[in-house]
Amino acid sequence: MQISFVAPSDATAKAGRKEGGAWVVGAVEGSVLLPAAARLDKASGGALTRALKVSRFTGKAGQMLEVVAPSGIAVSRVLLTGLGKAESVDEKGLETLGAQILGRLFTAGETEASIEIDVPKGSKVKKGELAAHLAFGAKLKSYAFDKYRTRNLDEYERRLKAIRIVALDVAAAKKAYAGLDAVADGIFLARDLVNEPPNVLYPEEFARRAKARLSKLGVKVQVLGEAEMKKQGFGALLGVGQGSARESQLVVMQWNGAKKSTKPFALVGKGVCFDSGGLSIKVGAGMQGMKGDMAGAACVTGTILALAQRKAPVNVVGVVGLVENMPDGGAFRPDDVLTSLSGQTIEVLNTDAEGRLVLADALTYTQRRFQPKALIDLATLTGAIVQTLGFEHAGIFSNDDGLVRRVQAAGRFTGERVWQLPLDPFYDKMIRSKIADMKNIGGANSGAITAAQFLQRFIEKGVAWAHLDIAGVAWQDGEQKPTIPSWGTGWGVRLLNRLMKEHYEG
Ligand code: BES
Ligand code: MN
Ligand code: ZN
Repeated sequence: MQISFVAPSDATAKAGRKEGGAWVVGAVEGSVLLPAAARLDKASGGALTRALKVSRFTGKAGQMLEVVAPSGIAVSRVLLTGLGKAESVDEKGLETLGAQILGRLFTAGETEASIEIDVPKGSKVKKGELAAHLAFGAKLKSYAFDKYRTRNLDEYERRLKAIRIVALDVAAAKKAYAGLDAVADGIFLARDLVNEPPNVLYPEEFARRAKARLSKLGVKVQVLGEAEMKKQGFGALLGVGQGSARESQLVVMQWNGAKKSTKPFALVGKGVCFDSGGLSIKVGAGMQGMKGDMAGAACVTGTILALAQRKAPVNVVGVVGLVENMPDGGAFRPDDVLTSLSGQTIEVLNTDAEGRLVLADALTYTQRRFQPKALIDLATLTGAIVQTLGFEHAGIFSNDDGLVRRVQAAGRFTGERVWQLPLDPFYDKMIRSKIADMKNIGGANSGAITAAQFLQRFIEKGVAWAHLDIAGVAWQDGEQKPTIPSWGTGWGVRLLNRLMKEHYEG
C-alpha cells in the first residue's frame, strides 16, 4: 500500500474532483469538529452535523461516523473519527487511530483515501509527528500474510491501494515518517519470519533471509554452521538440534552506526523454528503454532533491520540461535547431560525445555566475543508466562534495575509493555541437579522464573542483562489491538527501537 504526504491546498482541491475517494477527518470529545471536518461539513451543506444528531458519536477515541456519498462534495464517503480528549492525544493513540481508519476503509472496499486530521488545540503532539504516527499505524495495519492463498473471498478483498495524509508540515511529516517506516519494515520482517510455515522456514532458510535482507543495508552478517559450533563447543544448542534433519545455525548480525570503539548493545534471540517438544513430545493441540517459537530471533532480526535502515547512530549486535526441536533416533534424551559452551554441564530432564539450552550457548558466545555494555534476550520461553501475564505484558527478568526502568519506559511509549518478575537464589535452588551443574527444568510451579534463573547462570560478571519472555505477546490475538495481526505480531521491534533511540544513540 502506498502512503504519501500532501499539503492541505492540493488535498482540498482534490475534494472537489470526481475521484476523491474517501475523506477521513477528526473530532475531539464533545463532538467538536476539527478544522478540516468543519470545512467538509460546510461544503456538504451540513451533512456531518445532521449525521451527528442521529448518532452516538461523541468524539471519544475509537469512535467513527461514516457519511456515504454526501451531496455537494465529490468524495465517496466522509469518515469522521474520534480522537478523544485533545490533551490525551499521543503517538501511540494516533497509531491506533491510523490502524482503525485503515480497517474501516478495508471493510468499506475503498480504493483510495485522504486523511486530514488537524492537531487539536491543547495537544502536545507536533504537526509532523501527528501525520507520521497516523501513517505508521496505517502501515502496520496494512500487513497481511496471504502468500499461500490462491483465492480471496471477494467480500474480504482489500481494495485500498493508496492513502494520502494531509500534513500541514509535509517536510516534517516525511522526516518523522522515514524513521517509523524503517521500524515498520523491521516489524514486517519479524512477522513474515514468524508466520512462515516450518517446512519452508528452517534454520538455514532463516539465516539466508537474514543475510539477504540485512547485508545490503550495511549489516555484517555471519553464519556459523554445525561443524563450526561443534568445534567451538556449543554442546547445549547442538544437543537440541541433533534430532532434526535440518542443520542448526547461529547468525551474528552487527550494525555499527556509532564509533568503532563503543561497546555494542547485544540482542540475543531464541530461534526454535519448530518446537515439537522433542522426545518429551507435545500433545497435538500444544504443538500447533510452534512454528512461531522463533519469535525472539525474528524480533532481533527485525530490530537490526530497523536500526540499519534508519542508520541509527548506535552499535548493536544481534545473535540468534536457530534450531529445530525434533524427536528422531539421534535426538537428545531426557537424562542426557550436555556440556555447554560456558563449560557448565546441564542435565536434560525434559527435551521440551529446549529454548534455555539454545540461549545458554548464544549468551555465552555473545558475551565472550563482544563484551556488550548491556544485553537483552528475547524468547518464547515458557507457557507459564502466558498463564501469568496473558497477552498484555511480556515478563522481564533482570540483574539491573536501571535497564528495567528504561525498557519499561519504552514499553509505555510504544504500547509493548513489560512487567517485572523476580529473580532470587531461592528459585535458583530449584534447578540444582543430582549429577550435573544444573537441570533444565524446575519444579511444578513458577516455571517462567526458573527458566530465567537458568539463563542467569550464563550471564557473566558485570554484564547488565534483561530477559524478556515473550511467549504471550508474540502470539496474542490481535482482535483487541488494531495495529497487530492475529498471528505473528512482530512484538518487540518497536520497543527495542525506542529503547535504543532514547537511551543508547549518539
Ligand atoms: N516454546 C515453548 C514455550 C511456549 C508455550 C511458547 C506456549 C509459546 C506458547 C517452550 O519451549 C516449552 O515447551 N516450554 C515448556 C517448559 C517446560 C517443559 C518446563 C512449557 O512451558 O511447558
Ligand atoms: Mn519446548
Ligand atoms: Zn520452545
